[in-house]
Amino acid sequence: MELPRECLVKASAELEACGRENVRILRGDARYLLRELFETGTLQKVLMQFPLPWPKDRHAKHRVVGSRWAETLADVLAPGGGFELVTDQGWYAEEAAAAFKTHGGFNVVGPLAPDSRPFLTRYERKWKEEGRETWKVKAILTRPLPAERFFLPSPMTHHHLPVLPLEDSMRALQGLRFEDEGVVVEVKEVFRSDSGWLLKLLASDESFSQIFFARIVERVDGRALLKLEEGGRPFWTRAVRFGLEELEKKLS
Ligand SMILES: C[S@@+](CC[C@H](N)C(=O)[O-])C[C@H]1O[C@@H](n2cnc3c(N)ncnc32)[C@H](O)[C@@H]1O
Repeated sequence: MELPRECLVKASAELEACGRENVRILRGDARYLLRELFETGTLQKVLMQFPLPWPKDRHAKHRVVGSRWAETLADVLAPGGGFELVTDQGWYAEEAAAAFKTHGGFNVVGPLAPDSRPFLTRYERKWKEEGRETWKVKAILTRPLPAERFFLPSPMTHHHLPVLPLEDSMRALQGLRFEDEGVVVEVKEVFRSDSGWLLKLLASDESFSQIFFARIVERVDGRALLKLEEGGRPFWTRAVRFGLEELEKKLS
């Protein structure tokens, strides 16, 4: 799992060059992908190599390892399965070990100096050449615990409106913000289109935010449909569902 597209393109090319076919690469934020895309108790081992430490306090929310990460691993790891972190930041290794200890469902080993590893990552080679120290933390799952997920099954993508809304009611939506427990939806922009209206929306499930578009089109019977715009589909979460429901209420 990686964030920048270029990293994945490079990795794909290297995998192809060495003929590996038993690898899947995912693009996105590992904090969410790990929990949302894998079923409970299905992973034997999760490795994390040299994550960005985000040392400043005001950036701490970007750190991958923490209490939420421990909750995710307590769900997706098989009992006895393990997580292994390697980092060049001693304080980050300490913080990671502390998060797993606080969770209580793991047997935590480390931070310690990494023993020989079967491969070196690009950054690992770089740090070694510079003579930097590295640390390893292991967390073995002893008490599995299911975690709540954001992604929901079976999207209901069509909502019915009595008529195609007029200019005034659509312009009044601009900047509107709907809130419910842990979810927030904001109407960022409203666009007129030949077939009706297009809305740019921001939906946040706690810290998981997505920009997406919804379209309102007139039907032949004079009523209107509110639906997710094809092509830029968000992951189907409570916030996205809530946003469409609130728009339907407001516009009906
Ligand atoms: C210091 S680099 C290490 C890269 C590689 N693992 C290595 O050891 O050579 C840190 C990497 O973490 C990735 N990263 C940071 N936050 C992430 C997240 N939330 N989900 C997935 N990858 C992330 C960054 O894109 C960056 O490539």
